[in-house]
Amino acid sequence: MTSVLFNHAVAWVTNIGNVWFSSTCQWEGDDLHPHAPPMQAGAIGQGLPSLPCRSCHGPSNAPTHVSTIQSIPGNPHWGLAPVSMAWQGKSLHEICEQVKDLSRNGGRSLAQIQEHMGKDPLVGWAWQPGSGRRPAPGTQSRFGELIAAWIETGAVCPPP
Ligand code: HEC
Repeated sequence: MTSVLFNHAVAWVTNIGNVWFSSTCQWEGDDLHPHAPPMQAGAIGQGLPSLPCRSCHGPSNAPTHVSTIQSIPGNPHWGLAPVSMAWQGKSLHEICEQVKDLSRNGGRSLAQIQEHMGKDPLVGWAWQPGSGRRPAPGTQSRFGELIAAWIETGAVCPPP
């Protein structure tokens, strides 16, 4: 039962929040087309020193005047999650084990995982991705509640 909660919560959001997904920035949008212009994550996921993410991504979503790209996403902490946290191409079982693994989740306890997923404003970008992007379903606080319920019922992972 409890692994069903994890499946539900994570499957629900995995079509969004691409910042969690990959390490190379070779994706954009629901169809994961390559980032244009091509981008390198750099050592800490903030871009290369010569072209950091923040040279184009500001502290908040910025509307453009072009119909093909209606806005440039933004957040004060814009950047990529570390490679160890990438979700792209992984099964729900693999994502679940990785989320619980202190050596791969940034040393976070389950309570901290819940806090991060349910409250971190960078994660929350997925629900407010700016004009021209499909937001994650529901709300970040609802996602946080599902993760809390999963933890309270034993944080069991779905089978491989
Ligand atoms: C030279 C400017 C530039 C730099 C530097 C840059 N980006 Fe972007 N990025 C853009 C533009 C423009 C868009 C909007 C394009 C679009 O939606 O097709 C965008 C969109 C995105 C998106 C949204 C994808 C989606 O799902 O719609 C993500 C995620 C992203 N960038 C991550 C990064 C990261 C991480 C870095 C640093 C490693 C970075 N970008 C560096 C210009 C840049």
